[in-house]
Amino acid sequence: MSKVVVFDHPLIKHKLTFIRDKNTGSKEFRELVTEVSTLMGYEVTRDLTLEEVEIETPIGKMKAEVIAGKKVGLVPILRAGLGMVDGMLNLLPAARVGHIGLYRDPETFQPVEYYCKLPQDVSERELIVLDPMLATGGSAVAAIQFLKDRGAKTIKLVNLIAAPEGIKAVEEAHPDVDIYVAAVDEKLDDHRYIVPGLGDAGDRLFGTK
Ligand code: PRP
Ligand code: URA
Repeated sequence: MSKVVVFDHPLIKHKLTFIRDKNTGSKEFRELVTEVSTLMGYEVTRDLTLEEVEIETPIGKMKAEVIAGKKVGLVPILRAGLGMVDGMLNLLPAARVGHIGLYRDPETFQPVEYYCKLPQDVSERELIVLDPMLATGGSAVAAIQFLKDRGAKTIKLVNLIAAPEGIKAVEEAHPDVDIYVAAVDEKLDDHRYIVPGLGDAGDRLFGTK
């Protein structure tokens, strides 16, 4: 069964409040999404394996730890997932970035794929799928399936805000995928938007509405 980590940190809660606020403009919205992504990344990367290396400090030799071989891939779901990439790259500057383009059909609410470019060695990487919103879960379930179809073995999902319906959908479709969310909201509305949520994440990031 998926592990579901809901963050309980004052800095994340504080920043998320301003991300949600409709009076926050795109510039500040983008900055805050980046900051929260970095803070979440600290926990998302907790189980990266370490290996010992020998180094020399100005005082003497010692064995010290560095992140071991397993390579990381970040996979934002376009568009809104792009907003979380820089924040994660702050912690994982060597990570490769793949992109999956999906939009949700406004009539059927089903994800429609329009773009995909992934690192070649996707099966050897620990993949972190990024999307601020987990609403019905359709987009995340499709993106994860897409990655698995191309050989991905280790996948985590990171969202800012999730609806209970979205978490359930991912847990059922991909019980091997752990989910990290900054908040779980109440429900979805008739248009399958998260209530209270933050509105349309892509539009708020890129100022398209
Ligand atoms: C949003 C969001 C997720 C999806 C979540 O993207 O960024 O990808 O909706 O909804 P779901 O869980 O019900 O699938 P959207 O389709 O609005 O595309 P955009 O990022 O290009 O605006
Ligand atoms: N997509 C968004 O951007 N916001 C929602 O609340 C649901 C889907």
